[in-house]
Amino acid sequence: MEGFLGFVICLILFSFISGAAALDTIVPDKSMKNGETLVSPKGSFELGFFRSSKGQYLGIWYKKPRTRTVVWVANRENPLSDGEGLLVLDSEGILALLNSTKGVIWSSNTSRSAETPVARLLESGNLVVQEEKIYNEEDYLWQSFDYPSDSLLPGMKVGKNLKTGFDWFLSSWRSTDDPAPGRPAKPNSIISSQYVLNDVEVYYTYELAASSVETRTVLNSSGVVELFVWRNGNHDSELRMPVALDTCDKYAYCGKFTKCNITNSPVCSCLEGYSPQFPIDWSSGNWSRGCVRDAPWDCEKDVFLKHTGLKWPDTSNSTVNMTMNLKECKQMCLTKCSCTAYTDADVRDGGTGCLLWFGDLIDIRDLTPGGQDLYVRLAPSDMAHLDKRKRSREMKKATFMVSSVILGMLILILGLVFCIRKEKRRKEGLKKRHFRKDYMNDGEEELMLLPMFDFETIASATNNFSSNNKLGQGGFGPVYKGTLLEKEQDIAVKRLSRSSGQGHQEFKNEVILIAKLQHRNLVKLLGCCIEGDEKMLIYEYLPNKSLDYFIFG
Ligand SMILES: *[C@@H]1O[C@H](CO)[C@@H](O)[C@H](O)[C@H]1NC(C)=O
Ligand SMILES: *[C@@H]1O[C@H](CO)[C@@H](O)[C@H](O)[C@H]1NC(C)=O
Ligand SMILES: *[C@@H]1O[C@H](CO)[C@@H](O)[C@H](O)[C@H]1NC(C)=O
Ligand SMILES: *[C@@H]1O[C@H](CO)[C@@H](O)[C@H](O)[C@H]1NC(C)=O
Ligand SMILES: *[C@@H]1O[C@H](CO)[C@@H](O)[C@H](O)[C@H]1NC(C)=O
Ligand SMILES: *[C@@H]1O[C@H](CO)[C@@H](O)[C@H](O)[C@H]1NC(C)=O
Ligand SMILES: *[C@@H]1O[C@H](CO)[C@@H](O)[C@H](O)[C@H]1NC(C)=O
Repeated sequence: MEGFLGFVICLILFSFISGAAALDTIVPDKSMKNGETLVSPKGSFELGFFRSSKGQYLGIWYKKPRTRTVVWVANRENPLSDGEGLLVLDSEGILALLNSTKGVIWSSNTSRSAETPVARLLESGNLVVQEEKIYNEEDYLWQSFDYPSDSLLPGMKVGKNLKTGFDWFLSSWRSTDDPAPGRPAKPNSIISSQYVLNDVEVYYTYELAASSVETRTVLNSSGVVELFVWRNGNHDSELRMPVALDTCDKYAYCGKFTKCNITNSPVCSCLEGYSPQFPIDWSSGNWSRGCVRDAPWDCEKDVFLKHTGLKWPDTSNSTVNMTMNLKECKQMCLTKCSCTAYTDADVRDGGTGCLLWFGDLIDIRDLTPGGQDLYVRLAPSDMAHLDKRKRSREMKKATFMVSSVILGMLILILGLVFCIRKEKRRKEGLKKRHFRKDYMNDGEEELMLLPMFDFETIASATNNFSSNNKLGQGGFGPVYKGTLLEKEQDIAVKRLSRSSGQGHQEFKNEVILIAKLQHRNLVKLLGCCIEGDEKMLIYEYLPNKSLDYFIFG
């Protein structure tokens, strides 16, 4: 009885705590006060108030682990000094964080107002404001994913909205205790990520193979991107590792007008037509200040050099126009003298649209054999220079090729003369054993050189195809071991079964193929035997190698 009472009390207490603490939604007449939280549908994330030495913050964290890991903070720079925060949603759909005297500490904003707004915390960790009535996934009046803190959760974007100019980027906490923005970063290629470009947005997003909310990447206050993974659903221990960045993944490592190629040494090189701005720094391995153009640009007289296989430079100062084609794009770039590069914008459908870069080109990476095209502005004199170098390179190549072709032909002719003479001698000796006329057409010389064996010779060599001599069974028939009596040579005989369906043509092709591919170290084809329906191939026998391997593949 006592136990039962205890259970009931516990139950009441528990439901009181959870009922009082956890909300599903925030609506205009239901706000969230200190001590309450908003929980995502399956309980992965929780929105609520937390404290640090600086004061109180509104944030989102993983719900399950005991150690609270905050992934998003609303009032990063403006902590509540008293412990009496209140999160309200007004009738327009704007979220506001109020202090005890109803002063606004932080607020969201929207470009349009809602009739029946509701705030929810999604299972992805995204706090969104939606229209209650016209329920439409993805159509948010506001979402916290647009305002990343230091953590990138799957589905978040890092990039730019080209229409509104809106930038998504991570910024670290100033210290472990202070969520105020520290270092900003645009980790363009932190991990396997997707590059998305349409007429509205250009961004990177990432998904992991085992897509779940159990991972996040964090830009820590020392500027290192770290990946956090909850160990096998054990929410008490977290695996933490720096994301394996290679040198070229470091933002702007090589400076402006360069490209970074991880297989080269050094990894940084100037774009063609550009030279190191500070050659002494550059040659000592400090590439951070990059390259500058060789000759001053001449605006409308300038030309563009096509580069392929690149990761595009930082697009923060780019513009896009999806109605322009590549030709119009070039023209547009040419007329704007500060335009440094252009390309076709939609990489998915073979290229439509126009993407223009203004100012320095930063963070280009060589991605061959993948990557994208980029047309970089050059002064006409530089292009002429490059052309000249290219022509001389091509000239050298052509000279080399011509001489090797001539040499090759000479060797071929000599070889042919030698072969013909040898063949003539051989033909005389082998005349009787050659293929029957119906297997020889179109002058297939290879066949002429292949000796024919009598059926009787092969039968006696293999003990009349005794099962003791059988080495194995291939797709087209059995293979026997045998000994040619006159030469005392061991042979392997592939006897093509009558039901194999291998007709004369296939047989001929196989013989030709083997004859062509014949290599000393492989099984040597000694000859063949054709009599009536019998078709056999006779190979050299290799005692220590698995013949099956060679014959059956
Ligand atoms: C509440 O916020 C307002 C506006 O930021 C500020 O003037 C006021 O002092 C704050 N009240 C308290 C108790 O911190
Ligand atoms: C929301 O407010 C921020 C800062 O106050 C501003 O930069 C941004 O443009 C606003 N967004 C909209 C959609 O009004
Ligand atoms: C940032 O991450 C690196 C690599 O994991 C680690 O060595 C460093 O201590 C971290 N810095 C902070 C402030 O946590
Ligand atoms: C590279 O050069 C820049 C500019 O001169 C300088 O600020 C920076 O400290 C140098 N970096 C290294 C690693 O020497
Ligand atoms: C974009 O333009 C701003 C302002 O001119 C400049 O500070 C910034 O460095 C530029 N970014 C790039 C990637 O060129
Ligand atoms: C895109 O280019 C076309 C043709 O030049 C022009 O009419 C249109 O206004 C441009 N659109 C934008 C958004 O700049
Ligand atoms: C880097 O340079 C090497 C040699 O120039 C080239 O073969 C390779 O395709 C380039 N790109 C990458 C991504 O390695």
